[in-house]
Amino acid sequence: MAMEAWYMDNSDEDRRKSHKLEPNRPVSSEELKHLGVLHWKLNAAIYETDPELQRIRKERGYSYMDIITVEKNTLPNYEEKLKMFFEEHLHLDDEIRYILDGQAYFDVRDQEDRWIRIAMRTGDLITLPAGIYHRFTLDESNYTKAMRLFVGEPVWKAYNRPADDYEIRKKYMLSLQES
Ligand code: LAC
Ligand code: NI
Repeated sequence: MAMEAWYMDNSDEDRRKSHKLEPNRPVSSEELKHLGVLHWKLNAAIYETDPELQRIRKERGYSYMDIITVEKNTLPNYEEKLKMFFEEHLHLDDEIRYILDGQAYFDVRDQEDRWIRIAMRTGDLITLPAGIYHRFTLDESNYTKAMRLFVGEPVWKAYNRPADDYEIRKKYMLSLQES
């Protein structure tokens, strides 16, 4: 099943709103794939034993995992963290998230530097490639529980934009030309 994604409007209004253009301009899984963004739809209800999740983790080397609940009364330093998550940034490694409950948005930049908003709902697993500029926000439901996956020992360090001089950024930009 396809995940819903769309180009964002430029309004500064509440980031938790959908920010669709009028008329809506949807973005397909194919387009996301060209940006290096991969997606799977899984059954979150059985995540502890799900053979499909196990297969993906094995195939892609996602050895590390933990679970984070993003909610005002659960997450320490909630406001501060959400502010950080919404700063446009990149990482030196892939960012892999699996929504176990609730929902949220990931925004990624396309080849022309336009924001695409990806609606992550329960059961959505996504990989954002190393070097892509992105950000994260809760939606108006203000709650999500997500599995964080990682290849090897996790490194959560974010490099806020501008981070164009990093090798990983250059490598990512090159990969866009090839696909
Ligand atoms: C992160 C997400 C929020 O870096 O982009 O954890
Ligand atoms: Ni990130």
